[in-house]
Amino acid sequence: MTTNNSISVASPVMATYSRFPITIVKGKGSYVWDDQGHKFLDFTSGIATCNLGHVPDVVKGKLEEQLQNIWHCSNLYNIPNQEQLASLLTTNSCGDQVFFCNSGAEANEAAIKLARRYANKVKGSGSSDVVTFQQSFHGRTLATLTATGQEKIQQGFSPLMPGFSYLPYNGSEALEKLHIIKPAAVLLELIQGEGGVIPANKDWVKKLSQICKANDILLMVDEIQTGIGRTGTLFAYEQYEIEPDIISIAKGLGSGFPIGAIIAKEEAAKGFEPGSHGSTFGGNPLATAAGLATVTHILESNLLKHVIQITDYLDQQLQDLKEKYSFIKEIRGKGLLKGLVIEANAIEIVQKAITKNLLILTAGQNVVRILPPLTVTKEEINEFANKLECVFLSLEEGE
Ligand SMILES: Cc1ncc(COP(=O)(O)O)c(C=O)c1O
Repeated sequence: MTTNNSISVASPVMATYSRFPITIVKGKGSYVWDDQGHKFLDFTSGIATCNLGHVPDVVKGKLEEQLQNIWHCSNLYNIPNQEQLASLLTTNSCGDQVFFCNSGAEANEAAIKLARRYANKVKGSGSSDVVTFQQSFHGRTLATLTATGQEKIQQGFSPLMPGFSYLPYNGSEALEKLHIIKPAAVLLELIQGEGGVIPANKDWVKKLSQICKANDILLMVDEIQTGIGRTGTLFAYEQYEIEPDIISIAKGLGSGFPIGAIIAKEEAAKGFEPGSHGSTFGGNPLATAAGLATVTHILESNLLKHVIQITDYLDQQLQDLKEKYSFIKEIRGKGLLKGLVIEANAIEIVQKAITKNLLILTAGQNVVRILPPLTVTKEEINEFANKLECVFLSLEEGE
């Protein structure tokens, strides 16, 4: 590393994140440990990624097995784990075919490309534009940051991609405008995670879906944060009585091993043919071994039932805190994706929580986001509630 006399470079890693001052070196279940041996209760799950807790045995075993056989194989050849995971995902969703990639942004990128190509090559007429929503978050590639309805994410990256427009989330304006715009596709988060843990209204989503169906508009749901059991069903869309044309997933799919995917209905999938999209690593044997083990476990164990039951318990604890602390204004979210709307600076609470050995997140300036693993126990929720209360008390006392 060359250094300039007047500039000191703190880390060789680019400063794209302002990192908290702890170094995590180990994880198991709901806990992580730092390099000093301190133990933290992790209610972030790597931002909705380690849904089975850290280093889950069911996934570890399958990864170790796969490590003995083959790590990588080009998508020019058949990959058995990929076929099996695709089959599991289509059997348990309204979709028919899967494209594998490596991250959430890549999944949304694939969804946007599929929607455009379907409009241009299969329909052959009409708009190839995509409508998304204000406060949404869809990723950091050029197309997905353009799809993201937040200026702060887009700042400095102009020129943005053409072909996107943004409508208000929830409410009749979006429905009225959709009739007029008639885009190729709509990209929707059923709960806006990064945007502040804001759930979509069920009637609104149903109406939106009806408008899409009636006007040949593809409905694409971004389930990157809400999918893989996070809200108590494998996909959150199941609770909205809709059948999206394209579902994008990532995060929880590999229990921490990088993998993303889109699941498309047969008609929408016609937009891709050999050569129109691809990825070197997408769906490689190791990533799909992790995905297969994760989804199989969720479907074959009682985990989704547990999520529904434990959500009630978490809700009760959060409600108790809200009754005690008037600065908690609202509890939002579904399942184990929760947001506490507070009349305070959320980042201060997150920083203070670290000093109490608790990891939680923000979602915007005044929302504390809580994402325990789906395997979380009552005892761990009690520990979380006690630690969070200590944070609130120390803030009240001006510590
Ligand atoms: C709803 C949603 N979409 C897309 C993404 C981007 O995923 P990734 O960071 O894996 O690219 C995220 C990440 O937070 C997300 O929450």
